[in-house]
Amino acid sequence: MLPEQQDILWTFVTIIFTLFSLFAFINVIQHCREREGTNTVVWGTVFGTGFIINLLLTNHMFELTQQQQLGFISWQVLAVFLTLLTWGVFFKSENIENQSPPLIRAAFFYSTISILLAGYTNWLPQQRSDPPPKAVAVNVDDLTMESYTEMGRVIVFGSAPPVAGQKSIGKGQCPLCHTFDPGDNIGRCPNLFGVEERSHTRIKEDRYLNEPIKIGEADGATGIVKGVPDQIPEEYRRADASELTGEDYLRESLMCPSCYVVKGYGKAGDTKSPMPVISKPPISLGKFELNAVIAWLQSKDTPGEFASVTIPLPTAEDNAPVADAGGEEVEPPTFVTGTEPIDVMINTLGCPLCHTIPGIEGAVGELGPKLHEKINAPNRIKDPNYKGKARTGRDYVKESILNPNAYIVFNEEAGEPFPEGVMPQDFANKLSVNALDKLVDFISNTQPEG
Ligand code: HEC
Ligand code: HEC
Repeated sequence: MLPEQQDILWTFVTIIFTLFSLFAFINVIQHCREREGTNTVVWGTVFGTGFIINLLLTNHMFELTQQQQLGFISWQVLAVFLTLLTWGVFFKSENIENQSPPLIRAAFFYSTISILLAGYTNWLPQQRSDPPPKAVAVNVDDLTMESYTEMGRVIVFGSAPPVAGQKSIGKGQCPLCHTFDPGDNIGRCPNLFGVEERSHTRIKEDRYLNEPIKIGEADGATGIVKGVPDQIPEEYRRADASELTGEDYLRESLMCPSCYVVKGYGKAGDTKSPMPVISKPPISLGKFELNAVIAWLQSKDTPGEFASVTIPLPTAEDNAPVADAGGEEVEPPTFVTGTEPIDVMINTLGCPLCHTIPGIEGAVGELGPKLHEKINAPNRIKDPNYKGKARTGRDYVKESILNPNAYIVFNEEAGEPFPEGVMPQDFANKLSVNALDKLVDFISNTQPEG
């Protein structure tokens, strides 16, 4: 477990607790020695056990992430409370007057203040202040397939190390919706494990040939002609685009999501994909980036093995862009402070990928409900099934952002609830207090246009 995934303050408090129970133990033993008739063995065992329990709890705290620590600390508070109580019983039953030396009172006061302080800082959304990313020049002559697919991985996941409670997400935004490990499913988006293998079989399926449009027909939203690689816009096409391959299927999935909709994951009877077009705003990957992502998709299931990658390494003529591709540079995790204009904030957070939001240009996402919260929010809290804590529309919107699973919206169009767990659960880590306020103000006033 990395230290940055823990909360320093909690860890500190937990060490203080253990020292406290050690002190209680020594104090009790001293008292027992000073006077006759006290049962040293019994009291020693009781307080010794108290100390060992606290020591074990503290040790366990080091194995937890920040969020788990938050839940676990209550056990330790209980342990310390019981220690204190037993200590009081000890003093009382042994008739000891001079109960707790000033040092111990000070220590207890100090740990109480620490708990309150730690509770408060944990309740506030976490603000991180990592250094801004550096642009890195890509020298295409030095590229190997390994470093190229690594660029793809960075576009998907970002280069920030995972921080407690926050999934790391790169420019491509894929992890907002997709999972990549076997068995890891979040609902309405396919798990991309095994997609390289699937890419070869998909194009032979009847369903691919005919649904929702036939091969050779143009997709309404993007104008891309399905299954015909040399009709892909020139700046994205591969040089020898003729026969349809797995690589083309992957490129088509990213550039024309509705050309083929994975069964059960589409809208309107699987005729329309809720996935954004990756080469268009807001994600807007260029050819170089898109190809790096495809190369990564083709190699990710076989670490260290690149035989299934069919994308050629870019050459100097490809005019590879220079920024955004640094494998070793660390970029800060997504975070908005509230000083940004509202549309920048919302786009940075990725809400438009899943929501249609009146007043935000290009926010036409379809995975979640249309945000018409001026009307929706007050109605949600009146729903008998509503079990959240909000009493006002504004509080409902805040709750929906910080704790999306508090209430799962019913999708009237589809006749079933929206999928649970698809909306990211970690926005609290991406927003300052001011940003949250500003976002809630804006979202709670959204309503249908016109
Ligand atoms: C807003 C959510 C969302 C985002 C962001 C998103 N996708 Fe998707 N993706 C979906 C959904 C939903 C489907 C299934 C419907 C379909 O076939 O288009 C899908 C399908 C796919 C497929 C086809 C899977 C298969 O089994 O054939 C691929 C490949 C894919 N996505 C890759 C990506 C990559 C790479 C990114 C990031 C650059 C990305 N997606 C970003 C929602 C998303
Ligand atoms: C990966 C997709 C995704 C992203 C990104 C996302 N949401 Fe959601 N959101 C959903 C889904 C799905 C639901 C419906 C399920 C539920 O109620 O939790 C939802 C529900 C909501 C609701 C409740 C809507 C209602 O009418 O009751 C609000 C408000 C909301 N989201 C706001 C946001 C905001 C603000 C952002 C950006 C900070 C955001 N969402 C980002 C998928 C997403």
